[in-house]
Amino acid sequence: MKVLGILGSPRVGGNSDILLEQALAGAKDGGAEVEKIILSQKKISGCLDCGKCNDTGVCAIKDDMLEINQKILEADVVIHSVPVYFWAMTSQMKAYLDRWCAFFDAEWRVHKAYLPRMKVKKIGLITVCGDPNVSTSDPIVHSFKNTCQFSGLKLLDVVQVSAAAKGEIANNEVAKKKAYDLGRKSATK
Ligand SMILES: Cc1cc2nc3c(=O)[nH]c(=O)nc-3n(C[C@H](O)[C@H](O)[C@H](O)COP(=O)(O)O)c2cc1C
Repeated sequence: MKVLGILGSPRVGGNSDILLEQALAGAKDGGAEVEKIILSQKKISGCLDCGKCNDTGVCAIKDDMLEINQKILEADVVIHSVPVYFWAMTSQMKAYLDRWCAFFDAEWRVHKAYLPRMKVKKIGLITVCGDPNVSTSDPIVHSFKNTCQFSGLKLLDVVQVSAAAKGEIANNEVAKKKAYDLGRKSATK
């Protein structure tokens, strides 16, 4: 069992990172092999809609996303952790998600080359917003929920928390446990 963690915040050691670490610790305790990717440390261009991946299943843009797509394919579970920026996901996470285009064919069906692996994949999501009302992150949840439904992927329980200052979430035991449990469950179910 392989669990891949995707950090969508550029603030390494910040709230999303702390919660992603919790989730990965849970997954590790559940027996999974874990790996974390920090998107802000990777070179990831936005999708160009060139359509070249429709036939080949491989993106024409030669940047770090080629390697990340391989890791997504190899993983059983992909857990994303991302803060809200202007009522949406960060630009790093959006560029990453748009590049999932390579997993689809011209009719927006999961590309036949990836069908067996993509069908059994589970997706996790953790969101952090500065607003005390966690529903501020609902647009991110909406985006991931629909992407999963559309692609036939299983979306695990979503963890939505509120924190503003860097590392503030470290004092929130409830949020940390929710993230840990998400990772643990993802490795065992
Ligand atoms: C550019 C930017 C835009 C933000 N926009 C929002 C927002 O629209 N709503 C909100 O609740 N918090 C917003 N925040 C606050 C972050 O979501 C919050 O500080 C969060 O804890 C950051 O998570 P991190 O520590 O993982 O980076 C914004 C922060 C930044 C830097």
